[in-house]
Amino acid sequence: MKEAEGANAKSGLDRGRNQPMGRGKCNLAGWWQNELGSEMLVFNANSKGNFSGEYYTAVSSAQKPIETSPLRGSQHLDEDGKCTFGFTVNWSKFSDSTTVFVGQRFEDHRGQEVLKTGWLLRHKVNSLHDDWQATTVGTNIFTRLNRKEEGKASPTAPLSA
Ligand code: BTN
Repeated sequence: MKEAEGANAKSGLDRGRNQPMGRGKCNLAGWWQNELGSEMLVFNANSKGNFSGEYYTAVSSAQKPIETSPLRGSQHLDEDGKCTFGFTVNWSKFSDSTTVFVGQRFEDHRGQEVLKTGWLLRHKVNSLHDDWQATTVGTNIFTRLNRKEEGKASPTAPLSA
């Protein structure tokens, strides 16, 4: 049966089959932390390289208390371990802003995985006049956290609609 004819045809996402879990050299699934102390949990990518996850930012310019926020991304499935990827974090639980990250996976001289990323953070402004100050740019470096999943967030959690 072709993928598009299966149970996942509606979403176009392959949930549970043909996942690259444990295969390939660009498995981004798991816990990561950046130099700000922000943490994210990335779930297994599907066969097309689409993935979801959860992001807990250590910093925020919003007024409301920080909450864990959903992320959606897409990665290349290269076999050389140096894949590029991108993901979007929707902060709507506590902020009007949106962040997009782009990055690439590497291994350092000790074999430790590192994600070098750049990001654009779009703040909500009230008028066109203020558009010039709406976008912030930056970089983050993520390293793996050796943490077991804590119940609710399995690395094979589906990409829900
Ligand atoms: C907001 O402040 O409106 C939402 C949170 C934004 C957090 C940003 S995203 C880029 C940078 N990297 C992080 O881990 N956190 C900040």
